[in-house]
Amino acid sequence: MLNHCRRFLPTEGKKRIKALNREVGELVRSIIKKRQEEIKSGKASNDNLLGLLLESNMKGSQQDGMTIEDVIEECKLFYFAGQETTAVLLTWTMILLSMHPEWQVRAREEVLRVFGKNKPDFDGLSRLKIVTMILHEVLRLYPPLTYLPRHTYKTIKLGDVTYPPGVLLRMPILFLNHDPEIWGEDASEFNPERFAQGVSNACKNHQMGFFSFGGGPRICIGQNFGLIEAKMLFSAILQRFSFELSPSYAHAPLIVMTLVPQYGAPLMFRRL
Ligand code: HEM
Repeated sequence: MLNHCRRFLPTEGKKRIKALNREVGELVRSIIKKRQEEIKSGKASNDNLLGLLLESNMKGSQQDGMTIEDVIEECKLFYFAGQETTAVLLTWTMILLSMHPEWQVRAREEVLRVFGKNKPDFDGLSRLKIVTMILHEVLRLYPPLTYLPRHTYKTIKLGDVTYPPGVLLRMPILFLNHDPEIWGEDASEFNPERFAQGVSNACKNHQMGFFSFGGGPRICIGQNFGLIEAKMLFSAILQRFSFELSPSYAHAPLIVMTLVPQYGAPLMFRRL
């Protein structure tokens, strides 16, 4: 359907992407094969995501089951959507808590109040208010995904503009998250306090201003999981270390699929 507007020009970059895509596909295929054999021989149960996807595959296509190609695509989606996004959230949080040590202190106080020196548990994680405010503010200023691509497949009217089929649209998460009309005059400042009354109360006059996890039917399915991972990690770090940026850090956000610090995030840790 889209071929007429997506002609393939074999540049070096595109050839490399194609080769990497093939390599990742083969890697996933070999994991799937191993898992299928384990399920058949009764060595593995289907109590995780891959198991559930394979169960759907084994039911067969006559019952709307997934093909192995579908399963491979779903595995790739979960891995890339879940791994890289959470990794850059963690990196930016370390950077911002180093730049704003007063928030690092507040976050540590909260973590020690909730867990002491004990291992973070699920109940306690859901009570971390300051840490949650910080993570939302980091996601606002440095959203791992900076825009959402959409393709019109039929004529569609958005506001006053009518788009024909085949138009590529980009929902600019980064711009929305930095818009002073939505967030107020301090939109470009790091101020986790704005999330003190929750996400929907943080935007001045717009329910959907915070777009880091997308919105609507395709909203991120792993947002709670990603936030729990991040809270777990920061609790463990804050309990044990204080940290600051190395003088060699250069602030240079760059979009390479996700929004990354171009020259990395060299940090110095001090054991508490
Ligand atoms: C901080 C971390 C994360 C951020 C910022 C993030 C962001 C997003 C965004 C913006 C979308 C919408 C894409 C679109 O509408 O085109 C999305 C979709 C998705 N995310 Fe996340 N994500 C994160 C973590 C995760 C994790 C941990 C998982 C899985 C374990 C995950 C799995 C997915 C999946 C499967 C979709 C596609 C949902 C669909 O199309 O129905 N994400 N994510």
